[in-house]
Amino acid sequence: MPVNSNKRVFLTGATGFIGSRVAENLCRNGWDVLALVRSIPKANSFLDSWHSKTPQNINFIAGDLFAGSPSERMQLFMRCMQDASAVIHLAEAKARESEFDVKNIKTLGLLLEAARSTPTIERVVFVSAFMAGGLPQPLPDILMEDVTGAEFPDPYYQWKRMGERLVIRASKGSHFTYSIVRPALVYGPNAEWITGMLKLVRAAGKFLIPLPEGGRALLGTVHVEDAATTIAASANSNEARNQIIHAVDNGRTTYSDWFAEIAKNSGWETNVVSIPKGIVSILGKTADALTSVAGIHYGAYLWAQVLSQGCGYSNERMKSICGSLRYPTIREGIPSMMKWFLDKHP
Ligand SMILES: NC(=O)c1ccc[n+]([C@@H]2O[C@H](COP(=O)([O-])OP(=O)(O)OC[C@H]3O[C@@H](n4cnc5c(N)ncnc54)[C@H](OP(=O)(O)O)[C@@H]3O)[C@@H](O)[C@H]2O)c1
Repeated sequence: MPVNSNKRVFLTGATGFIGSRVAENLCRNGWDVLALVRSIPKANSFLDSWHSKTPQNINFIAGDLFAGSPSERMQLFMRCMQDASAVIHLAEAKARESEFDVKNIKTLGLLLEAARSTPTIERVVFVSAFMAGGLPQPLPDILMEDVTGAEFPDPYYQWKRMGERLVIRASKGSHFTYSIVRPALVYGPNAEWITGMLKLVRAAGKFLIPLPEGGRALLGTVHVEDAATTIAASANSNEARNQIIHAVDNGRTTYSDWFAEIAKNSGWETNVVSIPKGIVSILGKTADALTSVAGIHYGAYLWAQVLSQGCGYSNERMKSICGSLRYPTIREGIPSMMKWFLDKHP
């Protein structure tokens, strides 16, 4: 059920893999979208690729989230938020960029300050990531949104966790509520992040894909369209008010299911070879011990647990916000992703 009084939204990350689908979904659902983008030509090329029936009630404003003094950026963000009822924040500096976490946190802080100074804003949607809440020990079969556990010490999850806390804190005593969406592994056409992995599977998958316990652990997945629907709907859904929401499909997909489905849709051979869980745990603990000497902390043991044990993620909130999923499992979702990849990289 919608709560916002007007349907004007300020969106960041609209030229990205997920953000472009969020923008399209918002337009289709009657929102007026103002998107802050670094490149207007790139943004226009997305418009050209949309289905001709999609109403294009979207405007772009050129700008860089991380450039300029704090007061210049505050002014820019407040201009973008003028008369808007919602903000959806997807853009971020990538982990490979220097000081990416500091940039992301400072910029989020400015966005939240701008939202607090803009009385029309009723909802701030922050796109986080699954596992940002940490992993309970031992792992449950199904991880609920409100459960917290051992936090991943790697900088990406630290930024997301800190971002979630900032958003929740800023909304307290403010005129806006929050929605935090934690997508699982997002896949689908245009998933550039997946290109390297697919090329590797094509080249070497027939020889060896080493996976803990033969890849029987659960891997959370969500098709980009369902992730985008959840994010867009969170901008004014009452069910999403002050909620953390896992965006994950119904599939309970395992790692081996994932590679089998890729093989089925590509004709490639894949040969999954099992590595015992005990060995993976020892490797994780050794990596943690060695890297901590150098002052680096990525939580290799936690990752070893994720890869060998896995766990399912509840998507009850997601379904209460956006109804049934268009791609409930990878069986429905992977064919279009593989078609996109094979067309692009024959
Ligand atoms: N993909 C996944 O599997 C996944 C899973 C969980 C969570 N997430 C989260 O979802 C969000 C979007 O991910 P994605 O995969 O769609 O990322 P993406 O394709 O890399 O898109 C990132 C977007 O951020 C914009 N951006 C980066 N730096 C900017 C700057 N300085 N100023 C303005 N805009 C800037 C990019 O603009 P340009 O086009 O100009 O580069 C692009 O529109 C991220 O917060 C990510 O952590 C993703």
